[in-house]
Parts: sequence; C-alpha cells; structure tokens
Amino acid sequence: MPSVNPYYDKLPGSYLFSEIGRRVREFTAAHPRNRLIRLGIGDVTSPLPPSVIRALHRAVEEQADPEGFKGYGPEQGYEFLRRAIVEDSFRNLGITPEEIFVSDGAKCDLGNFQELFDLSCKVAVTDPVYPVYVDSNVMAGRGGEWKDGRFSGIIYLPCNAENNFVPDLPRERPDLIYLCYPNNPTGTVLTKDQLQVWVDYAREKDCLILYDSAYEAYISGPDLPRSIYELEGARDVAVEFRSYSKLAGFTGLRCGYVVLPRTVPAGRAAGGGTDLWSMWLRRQSTKYNGCPYIVQRAAEAVHSQEGRAETRTLVKKYMDNARVIRAAFEETGFRVYGGEDAPYVWVKLPAGLDSWSFFDRLLHEAEIVGTPGAGFGPSGEGYFRLTGFGDPSLTEEAAARLKRMYKAIPE
Ligand code: MLT
Repeated sequence: MPSVNPYYDKLPGSYLFSEIGRRVREFTAAHPRNRLIRLGIGDVTSPLPPSVIRALHRAVEEQADPEGFKGYGPEQGYEFLRRAIVEDSFRNLGITPEEIFVSDGAKCDLGNFQELFDLSCKVAVTDPVYPVYVDSNVMAGRGGEWKDGRFSGIIYLPCNAENNFVPDLPRERPDLIYLCYPNNPTGTVLTKDQLQVWVDYAREKDCLILYDSAYEAYISGPDLPRSIYELEGARDVAVEFRSYSKLAGFTGLRCGYVVLPRTVPAGRAAGGGTDLWSMWLRRQSTKYNGCPYIVQRAAEAVHSQEGRAETRTLVKKYMDNARVIRAAFEETGFRVYGGEDAPYVWVKLPAGLDSWSFFDRLLHEAEIVGTPGAGFGPSGEGYFRLTGFGDPSLTEEAAARLKRMYKAIPE
C-alpha cells in the first residue's frame, strides 16, 4: 500500500458529530422503544419553503426539455444566482457578482479554503470552535502535536463566560484567523465595534480573516453586523462564507457561497504570489464541477420577495424553539448564553460536571441528544450546546423533560 497522509493520525478520535451519532445508535439499539429528542447536530427539521419547492420543480422540468437542459455550469455558479445574492445581501457593501463563488455548502468551502495557504501559515481559532476549521488544518499538516486537548500548532483564543465570549487579540501573530458570528457553538455575537477591532488588527498585522456567517439570518439586533464587509477596511482582509442550510433549510439540498473580494491582496509566495481570487477560481475549476443547476435555481428563489418572507417565518420558528430551551434551562437554575441572535443555546454546567458526562446523563435520563461543549475545544468543557432546529412540539417536550429531570441546580 502507498504511504498515507500522516496528519490524519494526529486527529483525535472521530469527527464530533460522528461520535455523537455512534453513542446515540448504541442507545437506540439498547432502548428501541424510547422516544429520543435530537437537539444535537444543528440540522433543520422543517420542509423547504414553498417558493423553493416550486423553483426546484420548474428547474427539473427544464432538464427534460432540449431547450432548457443544462450540462456543466459556469465555474463560479450561474450569474442569475450571483446577481440575486449581491442584490439581496451585499447591495451597499461594494461586493460584485464576480466576487461570489457558489458551492455545495459552507462546510466544504471552509474545509477547503486552507489549501490556498502555505503549510507554514499560523492559524488562530476562537475556542470553542466549529471543528471543521481545526481538523481541516490538521489534515493539511498545520496542527503540530495534540496535547492536553489542544494542537500545538494552532492558536486558540478562549471565549468563555469570564470574557463574555469576546476573544482577546492573539499574543502571537497568526496568518489566518477563523471567526464565526453569530457563533457556533456559543450562540453569541460580536457588535460592530468588537468586530472592527479584528478587522483593524488584520490590516495592521497583515492577516486574513476567514469569516463564517452561516447564521447571519438569525441576527435580530438592529446594530449587529450581518456581514463583515459592513466594517471599515474589511474588503482588504476578509473572505466571507455563507450558506443556505440554516437560512432556508438546505442542509440536504446543499448550497453555499464564498465572497472573495478582488481587493484581498495577493498572498506572499516564492516569486511574488498570486491573488486569492484567482487561486480559488483555479482550485474550484480543477477540483469541483459546481452546485447543480436545479439547486442554484432553488437558492435563487430564497432571494425572491416570497422566499425572503418564508425564510423569515422559518427563522422565527427556530428562534422560538431556542427561547423555549433557554427558558427551561434558566428555570432549572442553569446559566445560559446565546439563543438570542443565533439558533444555538450554550449552557454552563454546574461546577464539577463535565460535558460528556452531562451528554450521557441527558441521553439516558431525559432521552435528549445535545452536544458536549468539550467536543468544540478545550474552552468548551463545562458547557453544553442545544439547538433550536428541532420540531417545536418536540422542543416543548424536551423542555418539560428537562424540568422534570432537574428540579433545581444549585449555583
Ligand atoms: C453543527 O451542528 O455545528 C452544524 O450543523 C454543523 C454544520 O453545519 O456542519
């Protein structure tokens, strides 16, 4: 057999949600009659909005028609979708359709983007963190050694109740900084002033911010930034990643996009360096053949007047769930964060209770699946995540079970 990539061996165990799936399968095999409520992985539960379904049907019919049939699509995605995106979300932010790269989702884009950078690049992540940022860099060889729940080659920026979940600027200069706001997993947000600090830092230190805004539709605060390009100078130092998954229920359909301003300067490389826009185009056109036409038509419908109204209803439903979960934990005496401008509720566990033990306890005693904070990084230990993406009546039922399980948690 050929030698394999040695860096895969550096990854501890399995991907977080695969490990949760394994434990849940074990539980259901042993207790087949029990009714589990799944509030673990952030997967949506509502059907696709009617305007999206109609767009899909129309696009499928086109595929049966010799005039309408589509083969390979344009490398960056169809212009009708890139225009709709810019018109709907980036109208006054100086972004052009040429700067949008449509894909099959933000997870793939966030995992793949690190390929554009040299292995010597230092990566900073907020901690706790969506595991894809760290794991994809470890697979590439930027992780260093795994010790005490951390990779020696990654800069972790702790976010916890003590700093109000606002990361401090790194002491050591990173090349790449992953930020996700509204945040997965903590459900917390940064104000414009707080995010401006990062943009200014990136400009001063010549870093690139990889900004994951997959949850921007969940922002309700009028002054919170929905895109990093609302901040002064961000066009020169930030790439933004967006997704239709949580906005419009596309977790199964798959569509997302990267916003890569042409103003992001060329990276440094032997011989001068190529600009990132050209590199990403080269990478995508070599390794990827694009999101299906019918899915891009479905995504276009999300930006229509009707689609926008339908997705607002969807988002409200999930946010109502988040409020139900928040209230249940608060009533039982837990301290709770997030769940106000994000679909995730981040619960502080009582001192001495670790997050995987709480996961098992919640699974066995209340038959609720959540996500242990430790799975998101060392600073996630002592916290637990639940999602608002469940079915509303099951979420109510989970809240009732939780209240029965915990009469009161002492401070
Ligand atoms: C999560 O639960 O953190 C998300 O659903 C994962 C994802 O979007 O890939």
